[in-house]
Amino acid sequence: MKIKKYMAGMLILSGALLLGACGKRTDEPEEIYVGVACYNESDVFIGELIDCLREQLNGLSEDGLQTTVTIRDAAGSQRTQNDQVKALIEEGSNILCINLVDRADPSEIIDLARENNIPVIFFNREPVAEDMMQWEQLYYVGAKAKQSGVMQGELAAERIRADSRVDRNRDGKIQYVVLEGEPGHQDSIIRTENAVDTLKNEGIELEKLSYGIANWNRAQAQNRMMQMIGQHSNEIELVLANNDDMALGAIDAYAKLNITESALPVFFGIDGTDAGLKAVMESQLAGTVYNDKEGQAAAMAKLAVALVSGEGLEKMEFENGRYIYLPYYKITIDNAADFLNFF
Ligand code: BGC
Ligand code: CA
Repeated sequence: MKIKKYMAGMLILSGALLLGACGKRTDEPEEIYVGVACYNESDVFIGELIDCLREQLNGLSEDGLQTTVTIRDAAGSQRTQNDQVKALIEEGSNILCINLVDRADPSEIIDLARENNIPVIFFNREPVAEDMMQWEQLYYVGAKAKQSGVMQGELAAERIRADSRVDRNRDGKIQYVVLEGEPGHQDSIIRTENAVDTLKNEGIELEKLSYGIANWNRAQAQNRMMQMIGQHSNEIELVLANNDDMALGAIDAYAKLNITESALPVFFGIDGTDAGLKAVMESQLAGTVYNDKEGQAAAMAKLAVALVSGEGLEKMEFENGRYIYLPYYKITIDNAADFLNFF
């Protein structure tokens, strides 16, 4: 009899503990512990995106949601990132925001998250669809590479049509080179393909002179561009870069070689980073395509709250159930200033 009473007491106690741990306590604010892992904070766009994310997440505290944000930088190593995610989980994260180093290698992180039942919001570096199917608590926030490529192509076509000086040798064709981001990144190949296809569809005759892989990086782009200028001297009329930093690196190369304005090609980037927007305002960059970091950061913060609190998820709009894509915007000298610290 005594034992039974004791057991019943234990059951009530453990029930109460369970309720305490899992039940909704609407009278108290949710505590959100966000663990953020990024592939490389020295990447200019990622650095700016992380600043926006930090701002958005800290803003939640002002809305009465207690939020703690921890950010880890993998500096380009997937192995480091796996360890960092493990530590973020041990430190108590209840939501993870992951910018994969290797977008084809998320399995270890997915396993860790699933074992600990912590939802994951991947961002900017999109895992392949197959991996996104590994668990139903995996989400993605980013933008559609194709749209940015099409917009870059449209901007270039508009410029070429409006300004006959772009075709400097007047052969009716535009001699161009491409600066590409990391091989294997969803934004590299797709942006290049769509920018070039769009130009062709717009009736612009093109001649590809060369391309260089510069891994999103300004200094590498400067090197690649110096080599291409070495091979093609002043034949290059158009530079399509997969991001602003590489477009700026190409401009650096021409500056370093003291090439005068009359022999400069037109340059196009993607991102609308602070430096990219300034270069558009100064007419160094003919145009760029805004990669909406503010929108992406806001969507991630909203999704993080919904996933931790279990409330509001049904009001969010997803593609294929678990993807959020923010639109890109075309930028020229006419609207660049509006985007600089506009949001
Ligand atoms: C941006 C690049 C950035 C890359 C990092 C792309 O969406 O356009 O600037 O380097 O993401 O993953
Ligand atoms: Ca030409």
